[in-house]
Order: sequence, then C-alpha cells, then structure tokens
Amino acid sequence: MPGRAATALRLRAADALDRARGRHDPLVPPRRLWGTVGQGDFAAVGDEFLGHLVALAGLTPDDDVLDVGCGIGRIARPLAGFLDGGSYAGFDVDERAIAWCRARYPADRFRFDVAELRNARYRPDGPRDASTFRFPYPDDSFDVAVMTSVLTHLLAPEADRYLAETLRVLRPGGRLLATFFLLDDGSRAALREGRAAIAFRAPEGAVAVADPSLPEEAVAYDEGWVRERVDVRAIEPGTWRGDAGRSFQDILLSCA
Ligand SMILES: C[S@@+](CC[C@H](N)C(=O)[O-])C[C@H]1O[C@@H](n2cnc3c(N)ncnc32)[C@H](O)[C@@H]1O
Repeated sequence: MPGRAATALRLRAADALDRARGRHDPLVPPRRLWGTVGQGDFAAVGDEFLGHLVALAGLTPDDDVLDVGCGIGRIARPLAGFLDGGSYAGFDVDERAIAWCRARYPADRFRFDVAELRNARYRPDGPRDASTFRFPYPDDSFDVAVMTSVLTHLLAPEADRYLAETLRVLRPGGRLLATFFLLDDGSRAALREGRAAIAFRAPEGAVAVADPSLPEEAVAYDEGWVRERVDVRAIEPGTWRGDAGRSFQDILLSCA
C-alpha cells in the first residue's frame, strides 16, 4: 500500500535526520515503533512524566518503581538517568516492546516482563484474561507505581483488578500516579458541549467508551468509581477536556 510505504519512509528519514544532527538517543525507539504511544514527542512526554512523578508523587532516586503497561520505555528512559540506588520494573502485553527494552536497559536495575494477556487493541490474540492477572511481584515491593495511558485502554473488570494489584505490590505509604479520562461534572459538560478532544459515548454505568466496536481504544471512568477503589490524593484535569491542563489525560495521584 503506497500510503504505508510513504509513512515508513518518512519515519525512517526523521530517524536518520536525528542521527545526522547528533540527536540520536539509544533509549528512544525508532519511530516505526511509536504507534502504541501516538506520534507525540517520545522523549518530551517521558521527561514531562518524570517531572510529574517527582512533583506529585515525591519520587526520589532511591525509590523502587513499577511501570504498569510500560510499552516501549517512554517512562523508563528518563528514569534510567534519575534512579540512583532505586530500581525499575515494567511489564506489558506487547512482546515486541518488551524485547526492545530488554535489549537496551541494564538488567541489574531494569526488569521488563511480558504479560501473556489479551487486549483487543494491543494484543487481540493474548492467551489469558487480564481481569484475573496477578502482577509478577511479591506484596510490598514498590515505593511508586506509574500507569500512563494504560487504564484508558482497559475495561472495567481489568481496571478494577489492576488497581487492586497495584495496591498489593505498593509498600504502605507508596504512591500511584495514573492517567485517566475521568467522568466528572467538568468533563461531562465538555462532552455535552463538544469541547472534549475525545467524543466518548453516553456512559453505561461508570464507564464510557469512544468506539463501541473497539472499546479498548479509549475508556473513561466515573471519578466516583475510581474513588471507591483507591485513596485519591490529587487530580490534575487534562487538556482532553478542552481546557488548560498539566497534561493531555487527567493525572490522578493516590496513596497505598
Ligand atoms: C498507550 S500505550 C502506553 C504505554 C506506556 N505506558 C507509555 O506511556 O508510553 C498502552 C500500553 O498498554 C499496554 N497494555 C494493554 N493492555 C495491557 C494489560 N492488560 N497489561 C499490561 N499492559 C497492557 C499496551 O501494550 C501498550 O503498551
């Protein structure tokens, strides 16, 4: 298909230009792998979230960090330069993403695992159901957990399980920084008035999806539903609502 070939060429040319200008970063994947995280600036978004982790979740260099749905390492990359004494663990259903990360990060401080789970958007042939998944870590393993743009792709039974599992593996006092599309009075008004960047359909119960034929493409949760599951300490509304904000998605901070 010519369109696809042209896109591949354009992405390769942009990668080559980075190298020619001396801007190549070995922890930034080639652009052809960016599809899972959108075409925003990979390094800039990662750096932005390191800032949120420090400012909102109080991340320090000696913390042990869990990155749920770590993808191609957008959060791992800035942590590689920040953690000193601390450790990193990430897991994802995307085998190719995990293989890419494993080949590039130091295995003594950065652990990457494949979760053999189904996700209609990211791994439709995954063998197991994420709603019963036990994270591959003992209780009380981490100081900080991060989930960027992951709960926005999980259906309610899976999101419920992932929040519970995150609380299990966080140490007492540990912090979770997670992004959501939250349904509250502000976002509901934005959706009604057509100002929201994503046109979620009318919610069914606590959950709204943008595309009923592929619900995992974008999932929004009622704020009350989230509050029933985690101890919410702060919410930073995102620009997806059509207003100014700290980031595109809503950022939620909670404490174990
Ligand atoms: C939009 S990407 C975000 C990746 C990464 N968190 C980031 O911010 O760059 C969503 C990620 O969630 C992963 N994912 C989907 N379902 C998952 C599940 N049940 N468990 C773990 N990861 C999952 C996808 O494979 C994909 O890498």
